[in-house]
Amino acid sequence: MVSYKELGLVNTREMFAKAINGGYAIPAFNFNNMEQLQAIIKASAETKSPVILQVSKGARNYANQTLLRYMAQGAVEYAKELGWEHPQICLHLDHGDTFEVCKSCVDFGFSSVMIDGSSLPYEENIALTKQVVEYAHQFDVTVEAELGVLAGVEDDVQAEESHYTKPEEVIDFATRTGCDSLAISIGTSHGAYKFKPEQCTRDPQTGKLVPPPLAFDVLDAIMEKLPGFPIVLHGSSSVPQEYVDIINSNGGNLPDAVGIPEEQLRKAAKSAVCKINIDSDSRLAFTAAVRKVFAEKPGEFDPRKYCGPARDEMTKLYKHKIIEVLGSDGKAE
Ligand code: G3H
Ligand code: 13P
Ligand code: ZN
Repeated sequence: MVSYKELGLVNTREMFAKAINGGYAIPAFNFNNMEQLQAIIKASAETKSPVILQVSKGARNYANQTLLRYMAQGAVEYAKELGWEHPQICLHLDHGDTFEVCKSCVDFGFSSVMIDGSSLPYEENIALTKQVVEYAHQFDVTVEAELGVLAGVEDDVQAEESHYTKPEEVIDFATRTGCDSLAISIGTSHGAYKFKPEQCTRDPQTGKLVPPPLAFDVLDAIMEKLPGFPIVLHGSSSVPQEYVDIINSNGGNLPDAVGIPEEQLRKAAKSAVCKINIDSDSRLAFTAAVRKVFAEKPGEFDPRKYCGPARDEMTKLYKHKIIEVLGSDGKAE
């Protein structure tokens, strides 16, 4: 048993309370490799922003859970080296799907876990979430749960709306599970294709897709039921068009990729939404930078010469999110 406190990590409790009161949101960035982690820590240290490092099942399979945890431990020291005296870094399990995987993360030094029972029947989601909460809270590890199903590109608009979190369920769910935060479904979804073209309108000037707005009425109804309760938004990448264009003009093929417009995330960050998950945008930044080097310097074969620019591009992206979208800069001096 390793306590995250010994590793210099923090849970989400205080971060979230301050974020709700301060009208900003904490960035939750996924990481799978060293360059992503370096970029996240550099951006957070330079802006003095609290940060959540997220590890998905895919990341655990790709990079190994043990290695990722030691990397997060190293990240705390790296942050201090960069001059961030009191780093506020949370190590979080993203989309945990069983009690066992959540327990293994709690036992191994994670400071926060998500149990995603959103695809289960309501009562089963409650039972599983409660089991994880009871275990995690013994060690002061915070737990994120999910209610409502995030839309997928295969759904039609009707189906997506029927998957929104039901405000009438949230009090019962939060009370019976004891979860510390709640991920909700209000129209965001994972990946770089969040909406089908037929769900969007086209900007007459640029011809680019303009997605439908998020269901802020559902968010408002949830906040009314659970005043001051920490809300989480998954699937919050904006899919920056400049990265898509660089990728597509350098041999890539991402037709009609579309994300959540930043102004909508800015609005959400000012509400009880206090954790905003971003992964795909970092993948796009990385890929755009690598494709550019490959196109411009076909003779290059030293990975540092293309992973280095990719890391710089991700750092720029993370700082932009922190300062211009979430408003979490300067909140962890
Ligand atoms: O929740 C989705 C995250 O973007 C993680 O994705 O499972 O491919 O690592 P992944
Ligand atoms: P994006 O795919 O929009 O970056 O969402 C990431 C996420 O929600 C991770 O849990
Ligand atoms: Zn997610």
